[in-house]
Amino acid sequence: VLVLCCGGAAVGGWALARGGTDTVGQVDFVRPLAVPPLATSRVDGQGRRVFDLLAREGRRDFRGDGRLTRTAGFDGDFLGPTLRAGRGERVVVNVVNRLAEATSVHWHGMHLPARMDGGPHQPIRPGATWSPTWTVDQPAATLWYHPHPHGATEEHVYRGLAGMFIVDDDREAALPLPRRYGVDDVPVIVQDRNFSRSGQFKKTRNMIAGIGVLGDTLLVNGTVGPYLDVTTERVRLRLLNGSTARAYDFGLSDGRPFALIGSDGGLLPRTARVDRVQLSPGERAEIVVDVRPGERVTLRSFPPDLGAGALADRFAGGADRFDVLQLRAAGTLAASPPVPDTLVPLDRLDPASAGQTRRFTLAGRAINGRSMRMDRIDFAATRDTTEVWEVVNSDGAPHNFHVHDVQFQVLSVGGQAPPPALGGWKDTVYLAPQRPVRLILRLTDHSDPNVPYMFHCHLLYHEDAGMMGQFVVVEPGQRAGRPPAPAEHA
Ligand code: C2O
Ligand code: CU
Repeated sequence: VLVLCCGGAAVGGWALARGGTDTVGQVDFVRPLAVPPLATSRVDGQGRRVFDLLAREGRRDFRGDGRLTRTAGFDGDFLGPTLRAGRGERVVVNVVNRLAEATSVHWHGMHLPARMDGGPHQPIRPGATWSPTWTVDQPAATLWYHPHPHGATEEHVYRGLAGMFIVDDDREAALPLPRRYGVDDVPVIVQDRNFSRSGQFKKTRNMIAGIGVLGDTLLVNGTVGPYLDVTTERVRLRLLNGSTARAYDFGLSDGRPFALIGSDGGLLPRTARVDRVQLSPGERAEIVVDVRPGERVTLRSFPPDLGAGALADRFAGGADRFDVLQLRAAGTLAASPPVPDTLVPLDRLDPASAGQTRRFTLAGRAINGRSMRMDRIDFAATRDTTEVWEVVNSDGAPHNFHVHDVQFQVLSVGGQAPPPALGGWKDTVYLAPQRPVRLILRLTDHSDPNVPYMFHCHLLYHEDAGMMGQFVVVEPGQRAGRPPAPAEHA
């Protein structure tokens, strides 16, 4: 049950909601959008692609007023480089922790062995290096990475630890889509922050009815007030909601439609022509926007539809509008081929083939009434089986649902067929209050019966507060083991 500490309008740091007009979140577009560099890599003697990633503290003047914000980032002050690997490649990432405390790095959306997953069971002590290795085996997609330390994910992500991980494959490469990184294929990592008077990231979570931190300033790839010079007729934006709590409903300032081509786990089967795409924390969408020579058009976030319920509307950004990114088209644009209608084939998983149906109710700080415990595995799924999961948000707060290791398909939302944005592979899905979402997923690789994967709400404060559980994937007849107790991991 949520505890409301204060009324919406009276809360400090809630400037946007107080304004309540179309001008909220308006910015002057004065800075070129920072594009995260592509991580360099090398191929080792075993043919593995090796990356190095260094988590460290930093400082940055985000607003150009001389006030330095204490931050954290990978290989830099804030966020991290974009990792990129092809399907079938074996990768190694040497993650060095130069922070003063333990952290972890989770590969959100990646199919990989549980020991490599970077969840709370794979902490990296200060000064230590963790070197997970796995073979990328999933379709081309926009994934991401972020810390997942037990009880402190929100804190680490809020300080700036996150980055994108792009998977490539032959199918995607064969399509006439924009793919010149930083030119017509651009990461757009959207995060909200509050700044204190001295310029520090302010954690105003307690004011927001237990939802988490809702900031009044958007950072896009760490840039406040960003513009992007567009030199081609079409630009592909890889949108990632990297915020800890806020949902966005992205659209263009003049309402023009755009091509929605991808979701969390890769390209959609068909291009959807839409004028909005809504993302809750952790979700991604790939869109292609058409621009005309010389024009300026703004990517905005409109008030998201969080579902019926006063709490959702008042406390999760349901009244907020933000300017996100201005696109500035050059006077002459290089030609881009039209976006194809048909993208990649999708094998629909068949609910009739599901051996198990599981139900998950999210409420308060728990799932099915149980709060996350490091030493309790909530269930064991059998390798090479298909399962249907029915997930419902049964309190009035906004929640979403993320599953590690697998990409799922959405069968229905509130009993209805899913919209096109939920028509492909997903790993995170928004849960409007009281509207059950049915998912179908296939558990393939065998994990270690003692090393679980997580499922949780991706509003990071909820996750940290216990709205998370653990599962393993085992051989038929095998039972779940028992993970080591948290103390052994400290
Ligand atoms: Cu993006 Cu379990 O996390
Ligand atoms: Cu939640």
